[in-house]
Amino acid sequence: MRSIAIDGPSGAGKTTVAKALAERMGYHYVDTGAIYRTVGLYVSRRGSCDDVQLVEKCLPEIEIGLEHGEDGLQHMFLNGEDVTEAIRKNEVSAFASTVSAIPAVREYLLDMQRELARQHNVIMDGRDIGTVVLPNANVKIYLTASVEERAKRRWKELQEKGDNTPFETVKEQIIQRDHADMNREIAPLRQAEDAVVVDTSDLNLEESIEAAYQVVKEKMGQE
Ligand code: DC
Repeated sequence: MRSIAIDGPSGAGKTTVAKALAERMGYHYVDTGAIYRTVGLYVSRRGSCDDVQLVEKCLPEIEIGLEHGEDGLQHMFLNGEDVTEAIRKNEVSAFASTVSAIPAVREYLLDMQRELARQHNVIMDGRDIGTVVLPNANVKIYLTASVEERAKRRWKELQEKGDNTPFETVKEQIIQRDHADMNREIAPLRQAEDAVVVDTSDLNLEESIEAAYQVVKEKMGQE
């Protein structure tokens, strides 16, 4: 099986790029952030995600289902409930980031992610795919963009969903989440040594997809 790892901070365009490449190449797209979001959502319904003991207690109660619809969308199921939309709410981003720093959570989800890569050719996006989950991935891309640009994209996305969080707040949330994801002790977000950096600050979506595709083509051609 072949695998492509796409890591990077939130708002760099990982999901859009990974999804488009998966379609183009006939690979299975796996959004690992959605899995952390699902855990965060469950724990937030039970109490605070900051309560490590509660999070650990919750893990065996969580059954995560992942299905790819005809639309190519990755649907997430939490104990049978379709939470695909619920996990996209702005507050769930912070819950996901908080629970993702807990070692027991990462351990719990590691096998699940690796199993998906054993069964299919995958394009997996996340924070630690090239460094921890799939260190032998055929291609590793570190997709990034400036904070300002990522905040603009996220703000626009929220506006379109009817969420009127002010731009400065969105930007501050991105800075905080970057800091938490990059500085946690376990599996922090960082560029794998053998990853190729694609900076999308000055690229539109089509150009970002094309830039990533060129990296994939070049790397796969070298094998
Ligand atoms: O990609 P995303 O914004 O949906 O991810 C939500 C959070 O989940 C992110 O802030 C950090 C965490 N995450 C992680 O720690 N490791 C991954 N492979 C994917 C996401």
